[in-house]
Amino acid sequence: MSGLQASALPTSARSLCARAGAPGGTAVTSASATLGHEASAAALLDRCRDRVRPALVEAVGRLHPWTGEMAAYALGWADPAGTPDPGGSEGKGVRQALALLGAEAVGADGGDAVPGAVAVELVHTFSLLHDDIMDADAVRRQRPAVWKSYGTGPAVLAGDALLAQAVASLAETPGPRTAAAVRHLCGTLTTLVSGQAEDLRFEERPWSGPGAVEPDQYRSMAEDKTGALLGCALALGAILGGAPDRTVTALDRAGRHLGLAFQAVDDILGIWGDPTATGKPVHADLRQGKKTYPVLIALAGGGRAAREAEALLASGRRIDGETAEHVAALVERAGGRTGTRDEALRQLDAARHALREAPLKHSAAEELDVLFTHLLDRTW
Ligand code: IPE
Ligand code: MG
Ligand code: MG
Repeated sequence: MSGLQASALPTSARSLCARAGAPGGTAVTSASATLGHEASAAALLDRCRDRVRPALVEAVGRLHPWTGEMAAYALGWADPAGTPDPGGSEGKGVRQALALLGAEAVGADGGDAVPGAVAVELVHTFSLLHDDIMDADAVRRQRPAVWKSYGTGPAVLAGDALLAQAVASLAETPGPRTAAAVRHLCGTLTTLVSGQAEDLRFEERPWSGPGAVEPDQYRSMAEDKTGALLGCALALGAILGGAPDRTVTALDRAGRHLGLAFQAVDDILGIWGDPTATGKPVHADLRQGKKTYPVLIALAGGGRAAREAEALLASGRRIDGETAEHVAALVERAGGRTGTRDEALRQLDAARHALREAPLKHSAAEELDVLFTHLLDRTW
């Protein structure tokens, strides 16, 4: 067995925490104006990561050694040989942080939300494993995607294992709130898969005319593929923290809007981002014919640059690096980049509005705001 040694995980986790300069248990109790948003958000993400890590390590340790090894690679804890890799690139840990903050925002202890946090991180990891296969993306977080390192079949299986473990981790949580939390997670999974289905189907749709993807259809797809899980993270925190339904719904709605903002930024970074920061190659979406928001609204706006971009995209010819660069410039000239940024800001506003609808604990609501802002300003 070349599987990751379960005992290696905590060591890896510790070195990762040390690398991030985040000793376990460091508490950030409120958004500090002096630290600035960036530092506060990073400290917040570190605090939540430290709190969730032991349970996440435990959940991954329960997988079959081979799928566990792939999961550890996907999570940035190990290299492809299963050796702990303190230099591995970890995810942002946004979803686990939302779950913890969701619980704290409803007046509970963040620890109550840990099983929900583990579930959403595992679902997120599963969805990325499968997404990279669907999108034919060979690189994720600066490293070969799991399907590139281990093969497509094994990567599918590792995703399946993570998904099953996500549901199991939550379902095995003792207490009267577990059933509602599992129901919420299962609903989210169905929604996420619907969003991914729409995303893939959009690739076959024309760029203009009858059958072209409308901005509203894009929003619905993005809310499903990305927003549902962010909403679920907050909602699980609230459910496990014992909040009433109205509060759960408001937090879920906030997360969905945040997801739309997040996806808009993701689409921008996919065209104009710096691959050394995003960890993903630039222009992959353009080459793959993905119907991303910047392109859709640029084309919807009409004008010369839009028509030229559309002609190139619809030509059926392979989009090489130079053409992709040119299309990106045309989309920018046609307003696709600023229009998408505006959409992200609108969605961020809607997310904040949804938060205000719930009676939340002030300090946690402030921290959520810091995190929301950070996600919009990100370059990664
Ligand atoms: C991924 O969407 C959504 C899910 C994995 C459910 P994208 O395909 O747009 O995201 P990236 O750019 O690959 O991260
Ligand atoms: Mg993708
Ligand atoms: Mg995708």
